[in-house]
Amino acid sequence: KTAVCFSDRHYPIGKIDDKMYSSFTEHLGRCIYSGIYEPGHPKADEDGYRMDVMELVRELNVPVIRYPGGNFVSCYDWHDGIGPKENRPKRMDYAWSSIETNEFGIDEFCRWAKKTGVEPMIAVNLGTGSIKDAGDLVEYCNHPGGTYWSDLRIKNGSREPYGIKYWCLGNEMEGSWQAGHLSAEDYTKKALEAAKIMKWADPSIKLVACGSSYEMLPTYLEWDRTMLTELFEQVDYLSTHNYTMNSGQGLTNYLASYKQLDTHIKNSATVINYVKAKNHFQKDVKICLDEWNVWNFQDIKLDSLDDLMGLTTFEMTSAEKWETAPAILEEKYSLLDAVVLGGLGITLLNNADVVEIACLAQLINVIAPISTLRNGGIYTQTTYQTFHTLSTYGRGTAMRAAVEAPEYECEFGKLSIVEPAVVYNEEADEVRIFVLNCSQDEAVKFDIRLQGYGDKELKRHLVLSGGDLELRNTPEKPDQVVMKEIKPEEKMSAVLPELSWNVLILG
Ligand code: AHR
Repeated sequence: KTAVCFSDRHYPIGKIDDKMYSSFTEHLGRCIYSGIYEPGHPKADEDGYRMDVMELVRELNVPVIRYPGGNFVSCYDWHDGIGPKENRPKRMDYAWSSIETNEFGIDEFCRWAKKTGVEPMIAVNLGTGSIKDAGDLVEYCNHPGGTYWSDLRIKNGSREPYGIKYWCLGNEMEGSWQAGHLSAEDYTKKALEAAKIMKWADPSIKLVACGSSYEMLPTYLEWDRTMLTELFEQVDYLSTHNYTMNSGQGLTNYLASYKQLDTHIKNSATVINYVKAKNHFQKDVKICLDEWNVWNFQDIKLDSLDDLMGLTTFEMTSAEKWETAPAILEEKYSLLDAVVLGGLGITLLNNADVVEIACLAQLINVIAPISTLRNGGIYTQTTYQTFHTLSTYGRGTAMRAAVEAPEYECEFGKLSIVEPAVVYNEEADEVRIFVLNCSQDEAVKFDIRLQGYGDKELKRHLVLSGGDLELRNTPEKPDQVVMKEIKPEEKMSAVLPELSWNVLILG
């Protein structure tokens, strides 16, 4: 099989914002406790942060990390997590049926973020929380001093304000699984008032409004239209979430999941455009895909994502009732999952004109690329390879690409056997082509035709592929699945192994 990929320097999609490689840490399972934070661990620093985790997070070059939830935030009172640790209350976390000790709160997160070199993005509780709590949290974090909440931050050890720029107005508020779930009309009113107070506390902040995340809900997109009509001028981003699941749809359809994400993103962009046009708004709202990943719900047996509706978190996870930091949602990713994640990454790049922030959900232990052992070592999942490669090479300008290739049928219609995303990195003067080869039984000869980039030739070919799609990394065998390098044999052509995710670097 042969495919030809065309790209012209004069046809950009858009600049890839660095925030495309952001991530997410939630008080869920062992993400925070024994993930980020494990006092007494041999690798913990003086604040109890695991330095082995920090090192891997730095290696991923993640610019922004969303915190503290997720579903968790909708039951969370941020006041519980500040001040002397011995006074902090233990609470039932209804979102994940766990005990929250509150040893780790906003101050610990912001200090960890600073040490790690990442920027926090904070979600406020618009479920069970009040709009006043949201405003107070902005004051606590961002006001220099001389007021009750800012002075309390100083008393708690942080003289300098945290200067948090990105704030999420709640999480998945359209879903009945969310504590304090609201109708679109009620969310609109609450978010509008919260936004007002939060911006009074700090006018420089950027706001992310909850959009629809689940396509099967009857409110899908209508929620966004209702809400954006009122909030368009107050917010900077529309949040949406999208998880890809290998749930018996068959290999062909699972590999093609990038197309489902593409439609999901384009649907959100369509509502933004509709509301903008209808109301003659002048400004733009970008998409903040603040949760995306492959999530196979390995804790439970599901036939499809639809089966999730109506499940309690007890049923959704292997959580025993009311444990502290239970080992739940600790997905063990396969080579196939890593290849599929690569396809999703290609979709993000091809939508760089509308998606400004994307957070891989999540970062540590919970549906994550980084895995730790309690009081033990650390290793990376197969998906670490993909995300690391995307974050390393997927910076610059996303370019339009056209492809001539054989097609195949799948649940998303007729698709080309290869799916590319072309990135031009101005600094290195390199063209980097990410390409998914969905051909399951044959390698594909991939010819590259570039125009307007100057003289370029294939310098490197990185690939994720292999015979055993079920291969996983383990603490004992942490390097079972890694990106491999193939020596290019031709200047403008590469052979893409069957069922593979590739990066072709031309300089
Ligand atoms: O990332 C795990 C959960 O998935 C989040 O808490 C929630 O927002 C989403 O449904």
